[in-house]
Amino acid sequence: MGVEELTNPLLAGFWNETRLRSNLEAVSPAVGQPDPGLSAQWTRIAAALGLGYGERSGAVITKGKTLMRARTTPSAGALYPFEVLVAFQDGHAYALYHYDAAGCSLRRLAAVDRRDLADLLAGSVRPADPLAADPLTADGAHPAELPAAVVAVVARPWHAMRKYGRRGYLYTHLDGAHAATNIALAAADAGFAPAVRLRFDRRALSRLFGLENLCREPQALVTLTAPAGPATTGPAPAGPGRAPRPNPFAVPIWWHDGGRGLEQPDGPEREAWDLVSPVSTYHQPRDLARRFGTTPAIRPAAAGTAPLALTGRDADPLADFGAVVLDRQSAKGFLAKPLDADALGRALAAVRGGIAVDCADGPLAGLRLLVRNVDGLPAGAYEYDPDGHRLLPVGGDGGSEEAVVAACMNQGVAAGCAALVALHAPVRQLLGERGQQGLAELHFHAASAAQRLCLGAAAQHVGITCLGGFDAGRIAELALLDDQEEVIYVVAVGVADENAVKWDRAPVAYSHARDPRQQPG
Ligand SMILES: Cc1cc2nc3c(=O)[nH]c(=O)nc-3n(C[C@H](O)[C@H](O)[C@H](O)COP(=O)(O)O)c2cc1C
Repeated sequence: MGVEELTNPLLAGFWNETRLRSNLEAVSPAVGQPDPGLSAQWTRIAAALGLGYGERSGAVITKGKTLMRARTTPSAGALYPFEVLVAFQDGHAYALYHYDAAGCSLRRLAAVDRRDLADLLAGSVRPADPLAADPLTADGAHPAELPAAVVAVVARPWHAMRKYGRRGYLYTHLDGAHAATNIALAAADAGFAPAVRLRFDRRALSRLFGLENLCREPQALVTLTAPAGPATTGPAPAGPGRAPRPNPFAVPIWWHDGGRGLEQPDGPEREAWDLVSPVSTYHQPRDLARRFGTTPAIRPAAAGTAPLALTGRDADPLADFGAVVLDRQSAKGFLAKPLDADALGRALAAVRGGIAVDCADGPLAGLRLLVRNVDGLPAGAYEYDPDGHRLLPVGGDGGSEEAVVAACMNQGVAAGCAALVALHAPVRQLLGERGQQGLAELHFHAASAAQRLCLGAAAQHVGITCLGGFDAGRIAELALLDDQEEVIYVVAVGVADENAVKWDRAPVAYSHARDPRQQPG
């Protein structure tokens, strides 16, 4: 020990803390290389998670001063108010893991009975009698016919509400749906057949996954079914026509020996949980019959006159998903320069893709485009027709810069945008007809469309920022929407200004006229 340390206990203490001490009994994560026992299938699923909702290059500043690595999906204020749990098929059972996008760690939580999970997915309740026949083996079904994994996107409302108040609850739906959609797209790219389920018993899932009394709302499930045949156990098969591209920023770290379990809610999180009870599907379930099918993200447009055809009708803007997903990012601002109509058309084509869901008869948002500065397109409002990939002119002049910025809660990010996308629906009518479940489904599809648009924009080098901070009435006025239509989500597109500053990541919700020190309410 040196003289300085003897005379400076703080230095000595610090030096002591820097020493590594090995412990034979300590649990080590399996970094990079999977355990010998880890199946190729789990590895492929983890890779899809890392690409769909994982870290990417770059950093964002959140909560005022914390620097965090950027992720492949956007989130209001970069708060990511949700968790991802994954049940991996493990022979005749499922193994439940907590997936943390920060650091790409997968930590084992518990074993899940496959019959319970199968019942939940089937929407049936198994008799309490433990000797009752296994419904899967009884009718000849084999474990291989069950999904290879079930990914649950589980909201923690308080994590958004502490900044955005009650509106933050809606952001949990939007943020989670961005991630769920992207995970489904990544899984499809890796050769799985993904299906999104929104009509499931949230309370039953909470019981099964150990989420009860933790103030968490399971909002979406993505089942990943492996392709049939020997490829599921052999080397990882390629996605359609190419090898799956790994995310170099998301190398899975497996923790198979359990750990702390999920974080417990504190007082404010419990209060926020009670506050969402009138609006959440967890608290107010509505048992709607499942309708399996593939739905587009956007509802068809009503007939219109003098349609304008857009470029990119036959192209698949997400064909190179693996490359595009790592390039997605939010523009911090826009230059007052015109956007190329061809690039806009190709980016918009991304919303035309369908997704397999259990609510194929559910509500979809319409897409109203407010063109302000696009080369080759007169300014004004247009309804987007996804079937024909056309714009149907509605009228107006696109609004003044002042009016557009004011409609976006005076957020400077909207100034200079070439166009605003307003996703809209007759929300009040929907609430009456389908209740909280309808609201959840509508927000899922709106965010799903926005996520596809983000990817389409990334592929075309079009600047894009999703906006949760907007005045729905003002946007509806600018976009000439009918009275019953409400704007539920806005996306600004244009030529990105790399030098702008992004204020919505600050701790104060300026765009919501809120001070976060206020309690929600
Ligand atoms: C639901 C939602 C609402 C958002 N609202 C705003 C907004 O009002 N203003 C803004 O500048 N950015 C907004 N964003 C973008 C986020 O700030 C951005 O996604 C986050 O900072 C992470 O950065 P990245 O998208 O570049 O990865 C929103 C994103 C989402 C998903």
